[in-house]
Amino acid sequence: MKKLAVLTSGGDAPGMNAAIRAVVRSAIYYGMEVFGVQHGYEGLINGNIHPMSLGSVADIIHRGGTILQTSRSRGFMTDEGRQRALNNLKQQDIENLIVIGGKGTLTGAFAFSHLGIRAIGIPATIDNDIVFTRSIGFDTAVNTALEAINRIRDTATSHGRVFIIEVMGKDCGEIALAAGVAGGAESILIPEIAPDFEQIVTKINNGMKRGKLHSIIVVAEGVYPIMELKANLQQATNQDTRVTILGHVQRGGTPTAADRILASWMGKEAVECINKNMENMMIAENQGQIYPIPLAEVIYGKKSPEISMFALARMLSI
Ligand code: F6P
Repeated sequence: MKKLAVLTSGGDAPGMNAAIRAVVRSAIYYGMEVFGVQHGYEGLINGNIHPMSLGSVADIIHRGGTILQTSRSRGFMTDEGRQRALNNLKQQDIENLIVIGGKGTLTGAFAFSHLGIRAIGIPATIDNDIVFTRSIGFDTAVNTALEAINRIRDTATSHGRVFIIEVMGKDCGEIALAAGVAGGAESILIPEIAPDFEQIVTKINNGMKRGKLHSIIVVAEGVYPIMELKANLQQATNQDTRVTILGHVQRGGTPTAADRILASWMGKEAVECINKNMENMMIAENQGQIYPIPLAEVIYGKKSPEISMFALARMLSI
């Protein structure tokens, strides 16, 4: 009987539970024995590994977070930590591992696979910064940010204010771009394209001259020191300006249907890879197709923003 362990690691993302459920249920469907690792790679190092059954994943498909919990493990970045993790798996004769997480998680799986464990990755991060695929959690995070933008738009209109809304994304502008376009933002600032301060000011001033009741600026974290941006804009436009940093609200909450469906397909595909004795793969989704690609192609890649989407946002916010 094949033995398989599953873990979630790095920043949590809505839809991780749906992915865990799909992995556990598909593995049992294929007659495998499944184990859950608690607290990500840290749990692997500490031997926090327990058997899972059909019942362990009942009633979780709609829940945010991860029932397996997660960690940002420093120990797993060391040879010693990985060796301890390997020993813990070997002790239970587990040779297959499915990891659910972002870039750091996939990089860890790649390093680990050199020690003889068959590792398969499932991309799950709100940042959507993994090349060649859409990531579990992104759709929910964008919708959460959008809901917030809608609410802020109401109060911005009532007061005639400029609002700067900071969203997450680490060093990737995907959330800002999607939420900004869907939320009808006047300006969107992302790390991949140098911000044009004069253009932002001109848009706000032109808008106000035309009788616009508010301006919404969506900024990806880390692009611009947010309070400095507020002070500079307020001075340059003479408009009452407020800042909202959405932060971790984007990470929690009920996953959207799109994220649950993506997670279900990816979980099932990851188990099929194990069933076929494949290793060092990540499950990718592109234009509705789900398929494995080598981890080596993924971990060194840097996702480029959709320039056409950025151009669309600019055109529609003249
Ligand atoms: O990778 C997901 C993410 O939420 C990023 O958008 C953000 O930069 C980071 O994690 C925050 O990490 P932490 O939860 O450890 O503060």
